[in-house]
Amino acid sequence: MQNRDIRQLGINPNHWYVVARSSEVKNKPLSVKLWEQAIALYRDSKGQIHALEDRCPHRHVKLSHGQVIGDDLACAYHGWRFNHQGECTAVPYLANNQKLPTCTLRHYPVIEQDGFIWLFPGNVETKHGKSLQPMGIPEWEHLNYIATVSVINCQAHYSYLIENLMDMYHGHLHQDYQAWAEAALEDIQEDANRVDAHYTAQSYYKIDKIWSISQLFFKSLRRLHPEPLNVSYVYPHWVSTLGKDFKIYCLLCPVNETQTKAYLIHFTSLNAFWRLHKLPIWFRRFVKNNLFGSAQKLLDGLVLQDVQMIEEEQQAYLKHPIRQSYELNRTLVSVQRLMRSQVE
Ligand code: FES
Ligand SMILES: [Fe+2]
Repeated sequence: MQNRDIRQLGINPNHWYVVARSSEVKNKPLSVKLWEQAIALYRDSKGQIHALEDRCPHRHVKLSHGQVIGDDLACAYHGWRFNHQGECTAVPYLANNQKLPTCTLRHYPVIEQDGFIWLFPGNVETKHGKSLQPMGIPEWEHLNYIATVSVINCQAHYSYLIENLMDMYHGHLHQDYQAWAEAALEDIQEDANRVDAHYTAQSYYKIDKIWSISQLFFKSLRRLHPEPLNVSYVYPHWVSTLGKDFKIYCLLCPVNETQTKAYLIHFTSLNAFWRLHKLPIWFRRFVKNNLFGSAQKLLDGLVLQDVQMIEEEQQAYLKHPIRQSYELNRTLVSVQRLMRSQVE
């Protein structure tokens, strides 16, 4: 296994993956794909989220074309209905002398938390599975954090994305978009489930004045100052902090061997404004909601540049799978070791 090509590595299914944003699943089913598995997400009459294999057992069309009726999902084709356990509950034209088909669909454990839908594609009933919780993003609801979300859709194996996110020397690519410069790797810690790489960097932004947010738009307001830049691969997701002001998550949904979806969530902290908690909650919520997406241009710009590089790497690999590449950042050795050990 040790020699297995990292670009053909599977995923460890015994983790919580992120398959959608909460806001993407309204009153219609949503079709998502996680590591070759087509899954239909839908909400029942109480708004509770469920996940079924996206395949009607009758004629194998996608259940996600159908509609939610009460608490069941009804197939678009002949209207067979299924409950959230994947059992057939009704067939509109069932004759009196006929029994309901006993077919069952796979259903997935799914949790809605912090604005996202987390799904467990492995066996949650094992001791290991029961003890695992979605990683969660506590800043999502916290009134002191302003969020921006960017969706990554790249035609590449997830390892390219994680390596991109863990290798801070690629700041070179981003130039104007980057929030920091001059990253230098200090040390790496790793265990069975995560790799933490500690860099130092020069940050451009400091969030300590009421007008600090304008640094996003006016370069002249930015002042370089040293900050710790930490990046962590918490399998299968990624999280990073730049000093105390910024935190970024990348929540992964590997689609297949050459396609990866991910959600990049950027938080700007308002913790430096220590008087903030004295303001009324409704006002703080108003500020949080109104500033949502304030780093959108920046984040989307970064994603565009990264995705181009990642996809080119994948293309080059597909053309010449055994061509050697050169690596000087030892973080990536640790990252690849973790990916491999997770699927062994
Ligand atoms: S294919 Fe789904 S009900 Fe017939
Ligand atoms: Fe990047």
